[in-house]
Amino acid sequence: MKNIILSCIVCSLSAVGMLNGQNTSVQNIDTRVEALLAKMSLDDKIGQLNQVVGDISTGTDVSKDDLLKQVRAGQVGSILSHTNFENKITLQKTALKSNLGIPLVFGFDVIHGYKTIFPIPLAQAASWDMDLIERIERVAAAEAAADGQNWTFSPMVDISYDPRWGRVMEGAGEDPFLGSRVAEARVRGIQGKDLSDPTTIAACVKHFAAYGFAEGGRDYNSVDISEQKLREMVLPPFEAAAKAGAATFMNSFNTINGVPASMDKHLITDILRGEWGWKGMIVSDWASFGETITHGAAEDEVDAATKCLSAGSDMDMVSGVFQKGLRKALEKGRVTQAQIDEAVRRVLRLKFALGLFDDPFRYLDSKRRAATLEKPEHRELAREAAAKSMVLLQNDGGLLPLNPSGPFRRIALIGPFADSRTNKDYMSFWTLGVGNPYYDSTKVVTPAQALKTELEKKGFLLTVTEVCLNATCTEKDYSLARDAARDADLVILCLGENGLDCGESRCVSTLELRKEQEKILKYLPSGKPTVMVLFNSRPMDFKLAAEKAQSILVAWQPGYEAGNALADVLTGKVNPSGKLPMTFPRSVGQVPIHYNHLNTGRPQQNFGQMWTSGYLDQPSTPAYPFGFGLSYTKFSYSKISMSKSAYKRGETVDVSVTVTNTGDVAGEEVVQLYIRDMSADISRPVKELKGFQKIRLEKGQSKIVSFRLSEKDLSYWNRDLKFKADPGTFKVFVGGNSRDVQEMSFELQ
Ligand code: GLC
Repeated sequence: MKNIILSCIVCSLSAVGMLNGQNTSVQNIDTRVEALLAKMSLDDKIGQLNQVVGDISTGTDVSKDDLLKQVRAGQVGSILSHTNFENKITLQKTALKSNLGIPLVFGFDVIHGYKTIFPIPLAQAASWDMDLIERIERVAAAEAAADGQNWTFSPMVDISYDPRWGRVMEGAGEDPFLGSRVAEARVRGIQGKDLSDPTTIAACVKHFAAYGFAEGGRDYNSVDISEQKLREMVLPPFEAAAKAGAATFMNSFNTINGVPASMDKHLITDILRGEWGWKGMIVSDWASFGETITHGAAEDEVDAATKCLSAGSDMDMVSGVFQKGLRKALEKGRVTQAQIDEAVRRVLRLKFALGLFDDPFRYLDSKRRAATLEKPEHRELAREAAAKSMVLLQNDGGLLPLNPSGPFRRIALIGPFADSRTNKDYMSFWTLGVGNPYYDSTKVVTPAQALKTELEKKGFLLTVTEVCLNATCTEKDYSLARDAARDADLVILCLGENGLDCGESRCVSTLELRKEQEKILKYLPSGKPTVMVLFNSRPMDFKLAAEKAQSILVAWQPGYEAGNALADVLTGKVNPSGKLPMTFPRSVGQVPIHYNHLNTGRPQQNFGQMWTSGYLDQPSTPAYPFGFGLSYTKFSYSKISMSKSAYKRGETVDVSVTVTNTGDVAGEEVVQLYIRDMSADISRPVKELKGFQKIRLEKGQSKIVSFRLSEKDLSYWNRDLKFKADPGTFKVFVGGNSRDVQEMSFELQ
């Protein structure tokens, strides 16, 4: 019997990545877990399932009892959001003095960097560069680990195509295939090959699940979603992260078809733990166990504790429900000792895998901290990442890159983001809103700082007019903008949204630029050559600006190296290669809008076409489609070639295309492969991303880009919730975005 149990544990731990190359052997961990569990009292066990908040709060108000006292009494298994390094040492020392001396595990939201701030995750996804994303996470994890954090609440893998939701900035956009590749890269970067390595930390895949489909794009709102769509659109990145070895997951706040996710047994036990065989540790989201009562799905703390533990959730983030209700739930026979023990095992396994029992101060080494935080090469990577994330949407007349021998010498940098620092821009809520003590606005390189150096060195004359940082924009400000534009040959308009207007609980009902920013446009002399740089956390509606600007560059919230990265792109040192990970709508009225929609029985071919699925007041097509982004060069695509036109089950489908750089400079192109199932037994999306390759081509260079589709790539969740491919006709599309593609058909027999 023992061997059977051990083999189950071996496969389970390998599923959570504690084995892949880990130097912590399974037998060793499980022997030690069982030995410790046998010594633990019920209070010791419940204490391990309790997570309390440290010195910064990242959510609703919760009781903050005496931290040291709770830790000393063995009532705390984990502390989150604790920033003070010395205090973490004291807290760990105190934990070692508790009854069994079980070390604490420290969790933190390392969302786009730790002390070195990188572009927001949505921007990183726009790079379509998985190696870059992995390198970013490697640095972020190393800095966090050096500062005493053992566990990050990242990657956030929520798919969403609702830009009203403030948290789209935190994910990888609207597509489950791209989202899955990004999730894998993040887990690899965060966890490395060995969780006990003091430069790696545990990942936490969140928010499980369907949080990005909240009704109305309103945070924490209800989600109604079919199981078919849940499995097709929502779960793939979670499964990819689980298979990549993610050590932990986090519940989401929302209900799924009426069931709060923290107590959703089907989601956690049937799918995550059952079908996927994942046995890692699940932590609630902030007070979400207690919120099951607010949802009206649990009567009191005993009921909430019962339902969340029984669903398969393990650790209670700050709600206190387990502390207050689990003992009673056991006494009333609502839960079993075995259920409690299994949750405690998962917490202890995480701590053993991190090496915290072997050396509780492994992550609290002040020398390594001083040597690791904000190393110069970390900022270089932040600059590279920000430049590679930027998306060029328009470049009429080739205004960009700025050409020193061109007609424009006097350049006016105008707008709230020209030299913004007090506005705390170029960052997200997670760097600012949570009061990350490491956000230091003096560390930001602003556009003005970088461009002054870069452009004047090339002979340009730059003026900076920072106006309308907020709604108190005066006529004087507008006149300053007007005069600066009048006296310039070219205007670089820096507009967008403030860092604190995005992120958790920061949802919007309109996607337009703030009125005071749009008003600047009215003061620009007509016909003035204008580049608009958008600093945004989400798809936005900037049609008025687009009418004035010949060139539009989406810079997202690029982090500390904002200005240098922008200068690199505007001067052509870096040829922009970003592609949109989310559709940009013409207006919020089109939301939800996404590329992988169903065809309907009456698709609209042309605006105004009656008896079709469209609007009277605007086309049903987006302003800019998923996967779209321009370059300073041009790429041409040959016709698609395929190994044959009919394939048997189990055969792979080989697709290739020749891509040529037909422009004047080297550049990178994201070659995208989509399919469409024309003969399934339910309606299928008009396109589904099934592959992409980011390639670099010198001027005039061509490259054959090949993709291989498996039967799995052609499969979908059918009416019987079976994942299978139907025989029949498929279309395959290849191109540089989801709209402008080469197309070919093939048969699956
Ligand atoms: C927040 C977020 C979650 C975060 C957690 C801890 O409310 O929803 O993403 O990791 O609380 O800060």
